[in-house]
Amino acid sequence: MPSIAIIGAQWGDEGKGKITDFLSATADYVVRFQGGDNAGHTIHSKGQKYALHLLPSGALRDATINILGNGMVINPEALVEEIDMLQSLGKHPHIVISNRAHVIMPYHKLRDQKAEDTQNIGTTLKGIGPAYQDKAARVGLRMGTFVDEALFKAYLDQYYDTVKGHLNESKERLFETYQPYIEALKPRVKDTSVILAEAFKTNKRVVFEGAQGTMLDIEQGSYPYVTSSSPTAAGIPAGAGVAPKHVGQVLGIVKAYNSRVGEGPFVSEMEEEKAEIIREIAHEFGTTTGRPRRIGYLDLVALKHAHRINHFDAFAITLFDVLSAFDTLKLVTGYQLDGSVIDYVPAELETLEKCQPVFQEMPGFKEDISHLTDWNALPQAARNYLKAIEDITGVPVGMVSVGPDRRQTISMTKIF
Ligand code: GDP
Ligand code: IMO
Ligand code: MG
Repeated sequence: MPSIAIIGAQWGDEGKGKITDFLSATADYVVRFQGGDNAGHTIHSKGQKYALHLLPSGALRDATINILGNGMVINPEALVEEIDMLQSLGKHPHIVISNRAHVIMPYHKLRDQKAEDTQNIGTTLKGIGPAYQDKAARVGLRMGTFVDEALFKAYLDQYYDTVKGHLNESKERLFETYQPYIEALKPRVKDTSVILAEAFKTNKRVVFEGAQGTMLDIEQGSYPYVTSSSPTAAGIPAGAGVAPKHVGQVLGIVKAYNSRVGEGPFVSEMEEEKAEIIREIAHEFGTTTGRPRRIGYLDLVALKHAHRINHFDAFAITLFDVLSAFDTLKLVTGYQLDGSVIDYVPAELETLEKCQPVFQEMPGFKEDISHLTDWNALPQAARNYLKAIEDITGVPVGMVSVGPDRRQTISMTKIF
């Protein structure tokens, strides 16, 4: 029953797409279990860059079956576009969509925009929150209903006035607009829980791919500046329709520093001057929205919080090459709060906003490491930085990524 979970350990954009693509070389299935096209997962392979939003990052490999699980919220138009985009690049991804996944409709995007006018969370405006709201309110539209014309019509008759919000379009017009997407997606909609149960029974290799990150988790993240699902390992059983015991190894994906898009407290946020250097080198602009990402020092307090929730077997440290720009490196090892130092993330926003970072400083490695393929070839200062992360969090570093390409990956042990 070999399976591995790829979990964002910070605020998203840790490089989950790159690592999932790398590990999916030997996977039979890659499964998304939450979120929607708020995600933007970038993969560089053979000189080509791919940005995936809804498709699991196994989609570039012909032999892999890619599942969009029941915990996802799916914009059909965006999904069809993404499949078309890959096909135009000569790829033929094998895709299966859960009949229990919820559908994002145009009114969800409008409601997202309307809510942002007053709330200012800094959402991706993809309609994610409102689609999950409808799901929780038990008035949502599911994929299995959507691709059955008679059921879809009956749904609109029953619920349209309840869910449509600010949309003026008639339900008849909406039904017509969606015909091509229904046709395109219908053959792919199945009971994916049954497929995965069979996969585990026959010892297939499964990668679960998280979107977003632990600090954006609706339960354990920096609420209310979070997304509307659970991107943690705990979200897998519910969102993929598998038993909890089928979640095997848990790999925490950790950017070598911190980044965040959207609003909300960010204790380890860096001076703008330094942030700009990183933004320039690492192209730190949102894959989905193009917004500049906020940049911070690596926050080990938040990482310990993430480890407590996910129980990581190992970390994959990504974008490590980017740190070679600096003479000294800084880790956040505690939060200063009202005259004492704490090592946990306070739940209350007002308290979190008062926290100031406590730093541990270390010498940098001013050396290009982006061509290295061997752990032992890493400069001593680089290894010291990784060792400090291991010592303070208690999680071993199992992989290091030194560039965006598939090949720029150093594995310390065979993880999967
Ligand atoms: P995800 O949402 O977690 O999949 O991450 P994103 O794709 O949104 O953002 C990560 C960015 O960093 C992308 O542009 C990747 O191509 C890039 N990237 C991933 N790993 C590395 C790395 O080790 N070094 C560098 N320089 N870039 C990387
Ligand atoms: P990947 O999978 C980074 C952020 C948004 C906003 C908050 C809520 O690429 O790591 P939402 O649209 O989900 O209601 O927005 O969550 N956010 C992300 N930040 N990476 C992501 O995905 C994100 N998906 C959502 O910026 O702050
Ligand atoms: Mg991303």
